[in-house]
Amino acid sequence: MLIAPSLLSANFANLQADIEMVNQSAADWFHIDVMDGVFVPNISFGQPIISHIKKYAKKPLDVHLMIIDPDRYIESFKSVGADILTVQVEACTHLHRTLTHIRQSGMKAGASLNPHTPICMVENVIENCDVVMIMSVNPGFGGQKFIENTYRKIEELMVLKNKYNPDLLIEVDGGVTLENAQKLCDFGVNVLVAGNTIFSNENPSKMIEQLKQIS
Ligand code: DX5
Ligand code: ZN
Repeated sequence: MLIAPSLLSANFANLQADIEMVNQSAADWFHIDVMDGVFVPNISFGQPIISHIKKYAKKPLDVHLMIIDPDRYIESFKSVGADILTVQVEACTHLHRTLTHIRQSGMKAGASLNPHTPICMVENVIENCDVVMIMSVNPGFGGQKFIENTYRKIEELMVLKNKYNPDLLIEVDGGVTLENAQKLCDFGVNVLVAGNTIFSNENPSKMIEQLKQIS
């Protein structure tokens, strides 16, 4: 299981300290949430902040774009250090083109599905994806409650993965806790994003270790 702490829940007044904590922890990726206030009802941060995160981060940057028209910014996120670039399926009119462009730019390509978006929306681009992310909350905020229907979607995605792209990573984002992590693992999830569960814990590094031990 790969663990991707979401910096959305980190201390923005001292990001460097939280980056160092993740560097020294058992975590695998940094999950970085970019929100534009249009696709989601919240604004987070953009490329300037990511370029500073990149200076200190010693693990891959998993950049999650919750923005409209992400095609405009693919090269720009590559230039500030994104290693995995994930777009929301609902924001892409030409998803195949977008995913292909991300890979051509030298990044791993991810497609993310809102809770209401059916798995079949990625069926015809699954071979163009390195990651498919299932949103287990409505995107926009950290600390929300996990939506139980997610398990059904993971089962459906596993069928497509086994048939068309066995190397695909299945990532789940939103409301992940120590309580639901084992079940997510049993259903076949490869990457767990966790914000609130990690950063609101009094010992974030230990929480990462506990999530990492799930298998
Ligand atoms: C939600 C973001 C998530 C968020 C997860 O819109 O995409 O990555 O940070 O936070 P938690 O783990 O607190 O639900
Ligand atoms: Zn996210």
